Amino acid sequence: MRTRSPGRVNLIGDHTDYTGGLVFPMAIDRWTTLEYSLAENTVTLESDDANGTVHFALGSPFDPQMKPSWGRYAAAVASVVNPQHGVTGRLSTTIPVGAGLSSSAALELAIAHSLNDSLTPMSVALLAQQAERMATGVPTGIMDQLCISTARKGHGTLIDCASLAVTHVPIPDDIEIVVQFIAHRTLEGSEYTDRVRECATAEEVIGPLRSATTTSLDAIEDSAVRRRALHVIAENQRVIDFTQALSRGNYADAGNLMQESHHSLSHNFAVSTQEMDQVVNQLCAAPGVYGARMTGGGFGGCVVALCQPGSLTDGWTVVPVDAASRID
Ligand code: GLA
Repeated sequence: MRTRSPGRVNLIGDHTDYTGGLVFPMAIDRWTTLEYSLAENTVTLESDDANGTVHFALGSPFDPQMKPSWGRYAAAVASVVNPQHGVTGRLSTTIPVGAGLSSSAALELAIAHSLNDSLTPMSVALLAQQAERMATGVPTGIMDQLCISTARKGHGTLIDCASLAVTHVPIPDDIEIVVQFIAHRTLEGSEYTDRVRECATAEEVIGPLRSATTTSLDAIEDSAVRRRALHVIAENQRVIDFTQALSRGNYADAGNLMQESHHSLSHNFAVSTQEMDQVVNQLCAAPGVYGARMTGGGFGGCVVALCQPGSLTDGWTVVPVDAASRID
């Protein structure tokens, strides 16, 4: 039997999901695959891409120190999805690990579908998010898991992270989306958790960032917290403007919005790196490129560019694919 889950690239809307904001990622043609057979009440996994054998009994308490450490994701998933049986299997992936393309969410969904085949796209996303937080201790949002559990071929996934409403928006075929790897990173031990806290601090003063306007920002005394809130409020609007520009074929506007998003993530939200800023600047100046930005949580990872087909030779051209599922 086999489950398969894509990674994702976020086109616009970063660091908005955990305050109930808007995001516009798409699932990409890079997958984590689990080939498995059923087992009674144990999970035994090996991986083509990581060392060690993960082995635990269903129902055993979650051990954050477990070895090999990638087994934490499997154990956390098993502890939340109400498994119907155990599995013995082998994982392989074409998603670069630790590159901000949701390799961990793909792993969680591939395992979740193998343990329980009655999960809906919404329930598997929420459970996998819970597992991610349990495995890493980082208070991540719902974007990655909900994108790759609901994605539709040829479409980006516009998610309202307050209502969890998903709207599939066609990705036109006269543009190309190119991802360039910059540096490995992990959100564990990064300033991601600080940003979540700073947004919560801003919300204590001006209320939910999702419905706040920039005119309320003066009430926030701390200038760093004010800039974080400014990023989120403006980024939510950019997501709406971007999907509209894309649908109208107005790629120049869409590209400019990506550049504004990057600038804000770098200067207001402080989650970019010098190297990412440099690459984004170079890409934006390259012929045929409408716009580029960092993608995902930041502190390394990847940048994404929107361009005319064939204009970039470095990086991976990615196309939007269907959601994670059990395939046979
Ligand atoms: C990571 C998290 C997501 C989201 C992004 C930033 O990918 O897993 O929930 O917060 O960072 O947009």
